[in-house]
Amino acid sequence: MAIGLQDLKDKVVIVTGSGRGIGKGIAEAFAEVGSKVVISDIDAETAANTAKEIAGKGVETLSAVCDVSNREQVDKLINATVEKFGKIDVVVNNAGITMDGLFIRMKQDQWQKVIDINLTGTFNVTHAAVNVMRKVKSGCIINISSVNALGAPGQANYSATKAGVIGFTKALAKEIAGMGIRVNAIAPGFIETPMTAKIPEKMAEEMIKAIPIGHIGQPLDIAKPILFLASDMASYVTGEVINVNGGLNGV
Ligand SMILES: NC(=O)c1ccc[n+]([C@@H]2O[C@H](COP(=O)([O-])OP(=O)(O)OC[C@H]3O[C@@H](n4cnc5c(N)ncnc54)[C@H](O)[C@@H]3O)[C@@H](O)[C@H]2O)c1
Repeated sequence: MAIGLQDLKDKVVIVTGSGRGIGKGIAEAFAEVGSKVVISDIDAETAANTAKEIAGKGVETLSAVCDVSNREQVDKLINATVEKFGKIDVVVNNAGITMDGLFIRMKQDQWQKVIDINLTGTFNVTHAAVNVMRKVKSGCIINISSVNALGAPGQANYSATKAGVIGFTKALAKEIAGMGIRVNAIAPGFIETPMTAKIPEKMAEEMIKAIPIGHIGQPLDIAKPILFLASDMASYVTGEVINVNGGLNGV
């Protein structure tokens, strides 16, 4: 009986959008338990810096520039990973953006870009990775949704994508469980990253007041349940959404 995260050692893990923020925290956590981590981001500089930092801890990494909304770039990311490491064990679909605005003023482009990155990006990376995983009848996909999948004013576009990610997770989990691939999601609450640094201070203070645990979360708070989902500890968990939000009402 294996209780713990030992099986994550030498697992090959792709984390999208891992140049900074939550993705970087997730990549660092996998490195901490000895996984081989692919740092992929649309931003070449942050991806390279994060990969360098992690490699400094003696872990094998690959830094890859990849816009998840571009299928050609995604295919390159998957091919480069297989070329370097020979397999893909875990994919964390973390890359995501906000382009907030009131619906009546929302531009078509503001809607489309968020859909393309948050939802189609998740499709692209998963679609390409599952094609590799199914051949060995093993794999694990973890998608990042949000507490705002429940609907947040000013985020009709973002909320639609994050609710979509949940439907996608649940449908795919049922479809590919027989291929030995588990699919789960994490719905973070309010986490301290460059994304949330854009929120005006007063509004952020009000948001923190509403968190029962009493403070904003850190990327590591999200990374820990992701390690659980990726490990054998969650071998019978699929199609699940874990709310990680300090007690806010979850999805
Ligand atoms: N921070 C929060 O409070 C919070 C809450 C709920 C959900 N989330 C979700 O967590 C994920 C990470 O958020 P974060 O707060 O770390 O954001 P962030 O903006 O700090 O980091 C996002 C990373 O994704 C990268 N990225 C953006 N577009 C990309 C693309 N097209 N292809 C590849 N990479 C791209 C960025 O370069 C950046 O490195 C997102 O999916 C976000 O929606 C965040």
